[in-house]
Amino acid sequence: MTEQIHSSTMRPEDLRDSLKGLLSGEYNWLANCANFCALLYQELPGLNWAGFYYPDEDGLVLGPFQGKPACVRIGAGRGVCGAAAKNLQTQRVADVHAFPGHIACDIASRSELVVPLLVGGEFRGVLDLDSPELNRFTAEDQAVIEHLCREFCEHHAV
Ligand code: SME
Repeated sequence: MTEQIHSSTMRPEDLRDSLKGLLSGEYNWLANCANFCALLYQELPGLNWAGFYYPDEDGLVLGPFQGKPACVRIGAGRGVCGAAAKNLQTQRVADVHAFPGHIACDIASRSELVVPLLVGGEFRGVLDLDSPELNRFTAEDQAVIEHLCREFCEHHAV
């Protein structure tokens, strides 16, 4: 496997500060999701997609995102996003080709990180990050992104 070394153009604490600044005084979920994924797409190297899926009917529906147009609907429990939504647990997939049921919105995607979003105990969607590189997301990346998601959700729990 090719070794991938990534240093975000921003340190985790700067990412946190930027997110805090973007959210400051604004509580519109859709607008804040749009800026959150734009920030991640700009600042995290090696991504080809960053965005949200929201719960809708039985499954998930596309929310704001950065990257190529993507699948609009994901059936309940389907793919990496469906697994995160069903188990309410982050899915960190080093090689999407090895993930049974992975949904290839973009054939260039090789690794993926999906974090479920819970606001005051209510499931509000997932944040999905995709990379064309194998094994793009480290355990440390996961911890940083989960922390940002937690703060993002806490901001909306008012
Ligand atoms: N790969 C995802 C589908 C969403 S796109 O990657 C944007 C999945 O398997 O759930």
